[in-house]
Parts: sequence; structure tokens; C-alpha cells
Amino acid sequence: MIQARRIRIEKPGDYDVLRLEAFAIGAPRPNQVLIEVAAAGVNYADGIIRMGLYESAKKLHGYPITPGFEVSGRVLEVGAAVRRFKAGDEVVALTLFDGYSSHLLLEHDRVFARPASLSFDQAAAVPTVFLTAWFMVHELAHARAGERWLVHSAAGGVGGALAQLGRLAGCEVTGVVGHADKAGAARAAGCTHVIDKAGEDLWRRAEAIAPGGFDAIFDANGVSTLGQSYRHLAPTGRLCVFGFASMLPRGRGVPQWPRLAWDWLRTPRFNPLDMTRRNRSVIACNLSFLSAQGPRLIRGMEWLLPRFASGELAPPPVTAYALGDAARAQAAIESGRTVGKLVLHP
Ligand SMILES: NC(=O)c1ccc[n+]([C@@H]2O[C@H](COP(=O)([O-])OP(=O)(O)OC[C@H]3O[C@@H](n4cnc5c(N)ncnc54)[C@H](OP(=O)(O)O)[C@@H]3O)[C@@H](O)[C@H]2O)c1
Repeated sequence: MIQARRIRIEKPGDYDVLRLEAFAIGAPRPNQVLIEVAAAGVNYADGIIRMGLYESAKKLHGYPITPGFEVSGRVLEVGAAVRRFKAGDEVVALTLFDGYSSHLLLEHDRVFARPASLSFDQAAAVPTVFLTAWFMVHELAHARAGERWLVHSAAGGVGGALAQLGRLAGCEVTGVVGHADKAGAARAAGCTHVIDKAGEDLWRRAEAIAPGGFDAIFDANGVSTLGQSYRHLAPTGRLCVFGFASMLPRGRGVPQWPRLAWDWLRTPRFNPLDMTRRNRSVIACNLSFLSAQGPRLIRGMEWLLPRFASGELAPPPVTAYALGDAARAQAAIESGRTVGKLVLHP
């Protein structure tokens, strides 16, 4: 038994429900790997779990819950049937919750060798956001060189990953950011054009950049931009929907229920007759509900990790917090002012 530490949420609520607790962790089962975590990725979704609004956390796990979808670290011990790893190997891993922890037991097929080009912090910052972006770009939207894309929140985790995958696929990416000081991060991620929606008219500028519309638009804002995103698709354009952040409080910790209900009512419902007439598609995904599709996600990791090793893809900028400061990290990402990714150090 190892004495370990993790963040635990007994019941949904404000930042103070993120409590650091000690727990004991046992030996790996035959197909498992015991990992000593070096860094755990923080995602915007983790705060939605804290608020009690994340459907897969309720349906696939329930509360109490430890959030976290990814870690990097060292293998301490492997189960009797595991041949891919041995004690001492440095790894990066996908978790379905539980990542905010000092130690983890994971099925070995969710664990991958850490590319030498990535530090532990960088390795923990990659899986969720790049896998989400890879899934949308290569499994749903099918990137084609020469396309024009618009990526919302292009300085953030998934947005930055989308910009990089777009550039790699030969697409011209326009990134939208919520503050002027994020423009540099969006450009570094691969955006040819950057629109600061706080300082300029988002859609007027978008129309100047792509008068015929965009071939793909990636939108995790929901109600605040979704309708206009659909209207700015070119014929055969695809709108990829993967989140609804604009319904949620900006750094206030708990949902404002009347506004949430109003925004839910106002969220566009797309009309198949209009979609057909205009040759526009709306596609969507939620990766946490795809955990049962392990082989597909493993294929994504096997596509991504060599490209980090070769330098075709670069890790996002990373800001680290102590595990016990998980509340500060979540407040930061929910403020809407972070760039790149945040990680926790156990
Ligand atoms: N469907 C999936 O499988 C999946 C997987 C991963 C992530 N996601 C979603 O993708 C989005 C990005 O996730 P991430 O972890 O990479 O986060 P992030 O983009 O690093 O940070 C969130 C960003 O969202 C924007 N935003 C819009 N409304 C906001 C609000 N009310 N409060 C705070 N921020 C707001 C802000 O950027 P700007 O102001 O610059 O726009 C903010 O920086 C989230 O909505 C997340 O739920 C979905």
C-alpha cells in the first residue's frame, strides 16, 4: 500500500469543494500500471464537474469524484500481464476522471511512452486537448489543405491544438480570442489571422477575411457565437460544436441558474432543411462519452505523440500549480484569461 494524495469533490459546489485528501493505493491488477504522477492536466471541463453540470461525470462516475483527464509520470509497478512497460518508465496517460492525484492505477492501454521532446509538464498538457482536436479534425471534419477555418478561443487548450492541427493540414486558420493579450499565443499556435473579439467586431472582420465563409468553424462557446458561426459557413462548411462555455459563470464558481436556463433556451437548434439547402453541416463530440471507444482514442494518441517527438507539433505554453492549489487553477481557467494549459504538481 502506498499513501497517496488526491483532490476530492464530495458534492458539487464552489471552489472550496476541491479538498486535498490522503488515500491508500494498492498493487496493480494484471493489466494495470501503477503511476507516480509528475503532473496532472487541468481542463475547463474539470470546473464543470465541480459545478455538478458535467453529464458524463454524473452518468459514468457519480460523486464523490476526483477530476482530471490526463497525467504524466513514472511507472512504479506493473501488473503480471503487462509487457509494454516496466518500473521506471516515463509515461503520459489518459484517465477518465481521477487525474488530480499523486498516484494512479490505470489499464496499460491508456498509458503511452512520454516523448523525449516533452517535459513532464508539457506531456500532461497534451492528451485531452490534442485528442479532442484530432478527433474533430481527422475523424469528423476531415481537414483538406487550402481550407479556411475559424477557431474560437484559439489561445486556449483545445483552440490552440486545433490551430496547430489546421496549420499542419495546410489550412488557413483564423483564431478568435477574448482579449488582446492572447493574440500572440494564437499566432504562435498557427493562426494566420487573429480576431480580438473584445476590441473589434468579430463577424465584420471574419467576413473581410473569408467573404465566402469558412470551410470549418470550431465552437465551444455555445449560445454567444453558435448562431453566427453557422451563418458564416461556406457551402460544404462544417460547424464543429464541442462545448457551451458562454453559458457558464466567468470565474464566479457556481452556475447562475436563471441565466443558464435562459441561455439553454436561446441555444440554436439547427434546421435540417436549411442545412441541406445551404450545404452546411453541424457535427459535435464529447470525448468523455467516447471512453468506450478505446481503440479509436488510442489511434489518436499514436497519431499525435510521434508528431511531438518529430517537432511537427509543439506543446502549448504551460502554467503549473501545486495539487493543493487546484481551486486556484480552476478559478484561473474559468476567468477566461489563461493561455495554453494549466497543470498540477502533486
Ligand atoms: N467535447 C469535448 O470532448 C471537449 C473536450 C475538451 C474540451 N472541451 C470544451 O472545449 C472548451 C475549451 O476547453 P479548454 O480546457 O481547452 O479551455 P480553454 O480554452 O483553455 O479555456 C476556456 C476558454 O473559453 C473561453 N470562454 C468562453 N466563455 C467563457 C466563460 N463563460 N468562462 C470562461 N471562459 C470562457 C475563454 O477564451 P476566449 O475568451 O479567448 O474565447 C477561455 O479562455 C471548453 O468549453 C471545454 O468544455 C470539449
